[in-house]
Amino acid sequence: MGTNAMQKILIAGGGAMGAGIGYIFARAYPGAQVDVMDTSEKVRIQAAESFEKWAKKDREKDAEAGRILGGFGKAQLQYDLMLEAVTENLELKKKIFNEFDLRSHDASLFASNTSSLSITDLSTAVNPKRQGRVIGLHFFNPPRVMKLLEIITTEATDASALDLAREMAVKLEKVPVICKDAPGFITSRLGIVLINEAIFALQEGLMSAEDIDTSMKLGYNFPMGPLSLADFIGLDVVFAVTQTLYDNYQDSKYRPCMLLRKKVEADHLGRKTGRGFFVYAD
Ligand SMILES: NC(=O)c1ccc[n+]([C@@H]2O[C@H](COP(=O)([O-])OP(=O)(O)OC[C@H]3O[C@@H](n4cnc5c(N)ncnc54)[C@H](O)[C@@H]3O)[C@@H](O)[C@H]2O)c1
Repeated sequence: MGTNAMQKILIAGGGAMGAGIGYIFARAYPGAQVDVMDTSEKVRIQAAESFEKWAKKDREKDAEAGRILGGFGKAQLQYDLMLEAVTENLELKKKIFNEFDLRSHDASLFASNTSSLSITDLSTAVNPKRQGRVIGLHFFNPPRVMKLLEIITTEATDASALDLAREMAVKLEKVPVICKDAPGFITSRLGIVLINEAIFALQEGLMSAEDIDTSMKLGYNFPMGPLSLADFIGLDVVFAVTQTLYDNYQDSKYRPCMLLRKKVEADHLGRKTGRGFFVYAD
């Protein structure tokens, strides 16, 4: 299947990642129908505002940024690509894949933007004859800006599904890397360990949050310190990914730091709630 067949695209979840992913698909595939679905009205309003803001920034006033839906709608509609970017929860994502299955045709691609969960496990939520069409498409925050696309393949992923994912990466102006399905793939496994360790150092009172971030920015030339990055990702997402790594590898190096757990319990989730390791005015 070539890019010409990419006419109908469905993104489930219109939060930080889903809205951005929907937008870049709409920009890369002019004329395609891009539906972004989220159950939260607040998020749908934010997504619509973001589409407008990004289209202005990109000077694409006439671009169709995508339709925003509150539910899946009729099962008869068939999509060429269905990608989920809902909350990092395996059971929820499986339910979404069940819904995707009802809206698929033989060449549809089923994709997940999960940061850590098993793509193989997710693939069991679609009809077995379509499991070869399931792939991980791990975009980074914010999807409009970040160049990397980590593509995750399972034992069952068809070569043609991988080819299509690579082709899409080029269209989206992303740089693809391919990883075999494993908890946290490469990017979350490496990145989250650093973030979790920075939180342990903060918990131990070794340095202030500002100085931990300054150390990694100026000492390692990181564009962003690990604690600011955690706030940017969302501490609920960071916690969920750390827990998944720990559950899967059973290695204590992945145990989530208690301070991270407490921040999540307090709903101090970082930028999205205005407070995490730092406080945000806007
Ligand atoms: N935040 C990041 O930096 C980042 C980066 C890469 C991947 N991811 C992954 O992307 C996914 C989404 O993360 P996010 O940061 O956008 O989270 P988010 O909380 O901003 O968005 C998740 C959205 O899912 C919606 N949702 C929940 N149940 C739903 C349902 N049944 N149907 C439709 N929508 C539903 C929520 O209303 C919410 O808007 C997660 O799997 C996360 O691991 C996040």
